[in-house]
Amino acid sequence: MDNFLIEGGTPIKGEIAIQGAKNALLPLMISTVLSPGKVRFAQAPRLKDTRFLGEIIEALGGSCQWEENSCILDTTKINAWDPGYEYVSKMRASFLLLGALIGRFGRAKIPLPGGCSIGERPVQWHLEALRQLGVSLNVVAGHVEGTCTHMHGAEITLPFPTVGGTQNIIMAAVFAQGETVINNAAREPEVVALCDFLSESCVPIEGGGTSQIHIQGVKEVQFPLRYTIIPDRIEAVTYAIAAAVTNGDVTLTNCDYSFMKAPLDLLDKAGVSVEKKDTHTLRVCGSSSLKRFELVTGPYPCLSTDLQALFMALALYSKGITVIKETVFSHRFMHALEFARMGAEVTIHGDTVTVQGGNPLTGAPVMASDLRAGAALVLAGLGASGVTTVNRVYHIDRGYVSMEKKLQACGASIQRVAR
Ligand code: EPZ
Repeated sequence: MDNFLIEGGTPIKGEIAIQGAKNALLPLMISTVLSPGKVRFAQAPRLKDTRFLGEIIEALGGSCQWEENSCILDTTKINAWDPGYEYVSKMRASFLLLGALIGRFGRAKIPLPGGCSIGERPVQWHLEALRQLGVSLNVVAGHVEGTCTHMHGAEITLPFPTVGGTQNIIMAAVFAQGETVINNAAREPEVVALCDFLSESCVPIEGGGTSQIHIQGVKEVQFPLRYTIIPDRIEAVTYAIAAAVTNGDVTLTNCDYSFMKAPLDLLDKAGVSVEKKDTHTLRVCGSSSLKRFELVTGPYPCLSTDLQALFMALALYSKGITVIKETVFSHRFMHALEFARMGAEVTIHGDTVTVQGGNPLTGAPVMASDLRAGAALVLAGLGASGVTTVNRVYHIDRGYVSMEKKLQACGASIQRVAR
């Protein structure tokens, strides 16, 4: 298991190219299981999670190759509909294979995702929606078994705009007869990317990015030869906050700030200067007098829960009391307790954390409990005095391509150390 050793206090200065979005690539890779075909995803982040999903697709009979920044999938020979527990238990996004495999084979057997460090993550809304499309589902020995001889369109109203639920329904609806309408659909850019990719694959689909998505079932799909993954908005904000907490000056290239309004507004409130250079470039400058802010997470276009830990790291260095409310996941505050080990004054009351920011922090050994918590600990360490050791860096590797190298190139003292 690797650690990061960070010696804080150096302003982060330079240019960072933003990777393609992990949370866009994962469902797109899964959607290729719907039909035999070959597609090259350009700007594909080669990460622990995306490589692992490639292995799952190979275990089903397909092939996955990586070339530079491209992921090339060939799903022609897929002939299995039951990825094993050893796969799905390691990556919950693979539960989306349920909709895709039922779409292709009329059946699937997928292990139910289990516990998660960020809170309860049930999948009952996925299952209820698939039943509405005519899929018969049974939960047996920890697995969901789905069969369907005739899938038909339906009007489905989600109780909450679940990202994965919306994506699972979209995939299953591709081969359902007639029209499927999803009300209260998730509006995240990564859902829009799936709609866009399927639309380029000759599936009539409308409303991506709104709360109502319409999908017309088809008999076959034709994937485009090449499709470019959207930039990772969460990675962009991570490095923006790295500049902010170190009073640095970073230029982020290849970002799409058109879907970053909520975090950019919040950075502005905290006194971080963000300049839009051209359509895909942001320049972010920190300040020695960062200000307190208020944050409530929510489904897009509200501030993403994936940014909560990162903004909490910013709050540590922002003068005054910042109040952070998490409305999406039930236990996503493990990082707050680790920040306290660095001298931070944080108090958790239910779904809310109060941060008394602006006090100097000192480095300490800390433990990443999930991907974004890990990234937030790196940010806290970059601004602290002394050495911070971030344990369990494998969480960070699930979502960030070469984080330490990107930060080193901007002057940070951060080393990966194998234990
Ligand atoms: C996606 O997870 C992302 N993962 C998460 O990113 C992200 O935090 C989350 O959306 C919210 O934006 C990927 O895209 C691969 P949800 P997902 O279904 O789809 C509840 C990261 O760090 N719910 O929108 O699993 C659920 O418990 C990751 O990159 C049910 O109760 O999230 C949660 O409270 C972590 N029943 C809320 O809805 C259901 O059937 C939102 O979950 C489905 C969801």
